[in-house]
Amino acid sequence: MLSFKEIKPKIMYYGTPTLLLNTLNEDGTTNISPMSSSWALGDCIVLGIGLGGKAIENLERHKECVINLPSPNLWENVEKISSYSGKKVIPSYKQEIGFTYKKDKYESSGLTPLDSKTVFPTRIEECPIQIEALVKNIRIPEYNPLFAIVETQVLHFHAEDNIIQNENYIDPSKWSPLIYNFRHYFELGKEVGKTFRSET
Ligand SMILES: Cc1cc2nc3c(=O)[nH]c(=O)nc-3n(C[C@H](O)[C@H](O)[C@H](O)COP(=O)(O)O)c2cc1C
Repeated sequence: MLSFKEIKPKIMYYGTPTLLLNTLNEDGTTNISPMSSSWALGDCIVLGIGLGGKAIENLERHKECVINLPSPNLWENVEKISSYSGKKVIPSYKQEIGFTYKKDKYESSGLTPLDSKTVFPTRIEECPIQIEALVKNIRIPEYNPLFAIVETQVLHFHAEDNIIQNENYIDPSKWSPLIYNFRHYFELGKEVGKTFRSET
């Protein structure tokens, strides 16, 4: 018989893709925020964003963003900016765990900006998937006003040539997200199967 215990984990990051959320600063430059709380359905991508950071401040002011998806080889670039915030005045609970202010996250991460097709925040060249999106709704749950649920609508989905299959499909054997698994970075393992609706 298998045995189970109830535990009280501090975090419940059970393994979702890492994304780099690009938002527009007041001065027209782009801020990069590592994130992992997201889901996608149809042309909608929903993000879970803490209220103590620069990303939500920027999105409240300017309702455009780019959702960049790094591959596993970029984990160190992500990690280089993981203790930085684009916010000048960092909330004390974040200061205590080591967050400091950094304006230029492109320089610190070693990543390269690429102009977007229609939105102001730039895309990240090294990320094989870059999604330009528009914020449609920001909801701060009354039962836990520490984060925002941000609903976005996809405008343009850019994919690197070598992961594209049959024009409008991503080849899942060529693409792996960088998985954030209980604060450790992972890549996908080998394919184990596919669903009846797969078209590739
Ligand atoms: C891999 C990774 C995933 C993260 N996921 C989230 C997330 O889903 N939501 C969030 O609010 N913060 C997340 N964080 C923390 C933010 O990156 C952090 O709050 C940072 O200050 C955001 O930058 P900003 O203040 O310039 O927006 C994550 C950090 C890392 C390294």
